[in-house]
Amino acid sequence: MDRRRFTKMCSGLLTGAASLHARASTQSPYRQSALQFDDGTAVTLDALHPGEAWIFSYPYKTTPCFLIRLNSSAPQRGSWPGGVGPDQSVVAFSAICSHKMSHPAKPITHISYRDEPVSWYSKSGERQTRAGMISCCSERSVYDPSDGATVLNGPAPVPLAAISLAADGTGALSATGSHGPDQYDRFLEAFGFRLALEYGISGAKTLVDEQTVAIKASDFSAHQVLC
Ligand code: FES
Repeated sequence: MDRRRFTKMCSGLLTGAASLHARASTQSPYRQSALQFDDGTAVTLDALHPGEAWIFSYPYKTTPCFLIRLNSSAPQRGSWPGGVGPDQSVVAFSAICSHKMSHPAKPITHISYRDEPVSWYSKSGERQTRAGMISCCSERSVYDPSDGATVLNGPAPVPLAAISLAADGTGALSATGSHGPDQYDRFLEAFGFRLALEYGISGAKTLVDEQTVAIKASDFSAHQVLC
């Protein structure tokens, strides 16, 4: 989806839980799916602690996303609507790197949310250090989740796709849509066979159900490559 359409869709973002700053698209191309922990309880705003990252599937059962409670507010910027919750600190993005589609897999992940400071060198050779980044160690792309997952470093050509979230009156969270440039089709084309086996489903291009499970990022992959 191009930025113009994304902006148009975001302009219509509004849910009943206005006090929670929840946002959802009225033209979401994907179904709403409630976030649950693996014990079946709802993922609520209060259940997420600052600095924590979770992985959930959306909009397909085989396409991983980050759910992150940032340590600071993530207000709306440009066409990106910002985080949800009273302090706008809860954000979600596709976890498929826009460069060569590195993604969290059960055996290993090269892309992860890093609450601690990470460093990289800018094109002019200056060392940059920032905490709270999404870092892909495949070829060192760095995304800023407090600013719509914009690319700060590396070969990634575009931001991560943003997953819109809505919170109901109890703070229970749902994923309501995917916006911005996404990699789903080429991702499923490239990795679909392996993903179907890994997730134990017959077809990789299967949309999530009305519920989707969030797993702590530190537990999702057996090995996290950090850089
Ligand atoms: S796949 Fe992420 S930087 Fe290349």
